[in-house]
Parts: sequence; structure tokens; C-alpha cells
Amino acid sequence: MPDVTLTTLNKLKRAGEKIVCLTAYDATFAHLENQAGVEVILVGDSLGMVLQGHDSTLPVSIDDMAYHTQSVKRGNTGAFIMADLPFMSYATVGQAIDNSARLMQSGAHMVKLEGAGWLAETVTTLVRNGVPVCVHLGLTPQTVNVIGGYKVQGREQAQARALLDDARALEAAGASMLLLECIPSSLANEITAAVQIPVIGIGAGSGTDGQVLVVHDLLGLSITGRLPRFVKNFMLEHSDVQSAVKAYVDAVKNVEFPAAEHEF
Ligand code: KIV
Repeated sequence: MPDVTLTTLNKLKRAGEKIVCLTAYDATFAHLENQAGVEVILVGDSLGMVLQGHDSTLPVSIDDMAYHTQSVKRGNTGAFIMADLPFMSYATVGQAIDNSARLMQSGAHMVKLEGAGWLAETVTTLVRNGVPVCVHLGLTPQTVNVIGGYKVQGREQAQARALLDDARALEAAGASMLLLECIPSSLANEITAAVQIPVIGIGAGSGTDGQVLVVHDLLGLSITGRLPRFVKNFMLEHSDVQSAVKAYVDAVKNVEFPAAEHEF
């Protein structure tokens, strides 16, 4: 049992205190993030890009996710660990159950899957079986080939309405958390106010209940040399990794990150 639980995260939402989430893929970074005060560690399938060097998250396997979740668990002492179900590992409810079991038995406290309202049945079944679920909405990188690139979602009214309806439906289905990626801040604020469960944002403005970043991004590490608009390179103002991660934690808690220039 971690020190940070879903109860802690729900209390933070109700108290209006921002939740800090950050990716980690190994024991050393899990430990470092514990020291800095990160509350939720995401073992993201972004590891396919930042560790494995692929141009998308699609090649990541459930074996990869289980391996990195085990590594993070060994370094973690108190954070809540959320692990991604990778591409095509939850296409059926049966697959979702089997693969969530792998991640939970590897040390995850929650699984994250990408999609929309159609995941309601999967969410309900996982929760009934003891698996807390976070649903990733908005820009969902596993469907990059369907949406035609890494683009801001929910700009049109119909799409924005659908995202709001999906958020409500997934909460009703039993989701314990939502993650919103690259949507307009005004829509993220509306969704955050419409649900009781914590909402974590990335490229969704400062109004969500918490923030997440890929740790390589906040350290300014990029193979292409480019960082997305919603990222801040905390190494520009800090000379060591521990201080940069701590600065991210403080900036999220003090609602200084994300700033207007990071929003859509
Ligand atoms: O895989 C990941 O790291 C993620 C974040 C971008 C939110 O899903």
C-alpha cells in the first residue's frame, strides 16, 4: 500500500491543492521523484519514445510495461503508481483484465487506458475486480494514426461536448481519475468542474486538479531537439536533476506551471 492513495488524491481535489504527477520508468527516478514530493508516478507508454527511440507509443508491449512497473516499484516508497496499458492490450474486456492483472501484480496501484466513453464497460469490469482506472482523454497518442497527428483535440463544439459527456459517463462507470491531454484550457476547466474524481492535465492549462509531464521533457532531454509547447524545461534554471524535479513539484503546487504560454 503506498502512502499516497486514492483517498489522498480525492482529498487533494476537494481541498483545491494541486496533485503532482510525473513519469518514471526505473527505480532511480522513482526514488528521486519520491524525494521531490511527486504524488503520482506514471509508468507511461511514452517509454516507447523516450527510452526505446520509437516514433510512437504503438510498439510498446505489455512485457515492457510490466518490466518498467516492477523497476519503479522497487525504487518507490510512498507514491501512487499508475501504469499504462499499452496499444491493443485492452481491445476486449478479457484482454483488459488479463493485462491489468500483469500491471497490478508488477506493482501498479492503478492502470491508465486511452479512449473515450466506449470504455465504460471495461472500466466497470476492472473496478469490480479491484483495479482502479484512470482514463486518458483528448489527444490519445495510441490513436495517432486515426486522429492524423499529435494535434490539439476538442476545439470544435461537437467534439468538446462529446469529451464532456465521455468524462461524465466514465466517472459513472467507475473511473477513479481522468487524464486530459492537449485540449483547450476552458474545456479542461469545464470537465474538471463537472466530475468529482481528480483530473490530471498535460497541455490542458492550470485549472485541472493536477499536472503530469514526461520526465525527459522537464529535463529538456529530446532526441529531436524540440519540446512541445506545453512543456517547460526546468533544467534551464537548475543545475541538477533533483533540483529541477523539485522545482516542477513546487511550480505545480503553487499554480505557476503551466503558465499562459503553455496553454491552448
Ligand atoms: O505515456 C505517457 O507518458 C503519458 C503522458 C504523456 C500523460 O500518457
